[in-house]
Amino acid sequence: MINNVIGIVREAAQYISSADKIEISQKGGYANIVTTSDLAVQDFLRSRLATLLPDCGFICEEGDIADISHRDVWIVDPIDGTANYARGVDQCAICVGLCHDGEMQMGVVYIPRTDEMFYAEKGKGAWRNGQQIHVADRAFENGIMCTAFPVYYKEQSAWCARAIHDVFMQCNDIRRLGAAAPELCYIAMGRFDMYFEYRLGAWDFAAASIIVSEAGGFLSDINGNPLNPIKASGVLVANSNDNLNRLIAIIKSHNPEAEIASNI
Ligand code: IPD
Ligand code: CA
Ligand code: CA
Repeated sequence: MINNVIGIVREAAQYISSADKIEISQKGGYANIVTTSDLAVQDFLRSRLATLLPDCGFICEEGDIADISHRDVWIVDPIDGTANYARGVDQCAICVGLCHDGEMQMGVVYIPRTDEMFYAEKGKGAWRNGQQIHVADRAFENGIMCTAFPVYYKEQSAWCARAIHDVFMQCNDIRRLGAAAPELCYIAMGRFDMYFEYRLGAWDFAAASIIVSEAGGFLSDINGNPLNPIKASGVLVANSNDNLNRLIAIIKSHNPEAEIASNI
């Protein structure tokens, strides 16, 4: 099955083009854009993935599709990092995850501009272009945390900035690459070590989450509770359980709505 999904995702990349050929429209202000490629990739993936499983639902970003009344649910972000994509920045990815009875079974994240195919199946490890990958064995102090300011929740950005600064003072450095799924895959392969974002859609993190966990990483919501792969959520990730617990404690200490924020 995963080889079929990898093949379909690779085929979907035919709709990815160079920045000068991309048509952009706004979904609600400059921060929320969609391109003709997002729509073409999503339509292609929906029609091809539906043929792989006879009775399946879909969660897809474009059009906010959320048909979860099936045991098998495909979770699709046609392009994660659309703002990067539209500006010709490499970090943008096609993401497909499969959730069965509420648990991730497989994830495929393809970064077409660097030709990096990340994938994982439950219990079978995580892979990048045919090579097994693993999180790095770095201490918190030597870790690099990827993060994002909450573009859709700017009213939350002040405490997020304080939390990021607090982590920055205790770790090696911070990155904001602009595409959650590639950032999580880079943690899975040991390039980076931690992740914090106030709120992501299920399509942003579901496929990459199983790649991280199969690579030996740890994930939670921003209160330290297990991630629900079919629900929007705050997301914390680390290369070790100790580092995740330390990150949870720092983020909670700044979050004015700790315990409530990830359950809205
Ligand atoms: C976005 C990217 C970005 C993250 C946002 C996401 P999109 O996804 O992953 O890094 O900070 O929260 O919405 O909109 O480019 O698919
Ligand atoms: Ca996304
Ligand atoms: Ca997207």
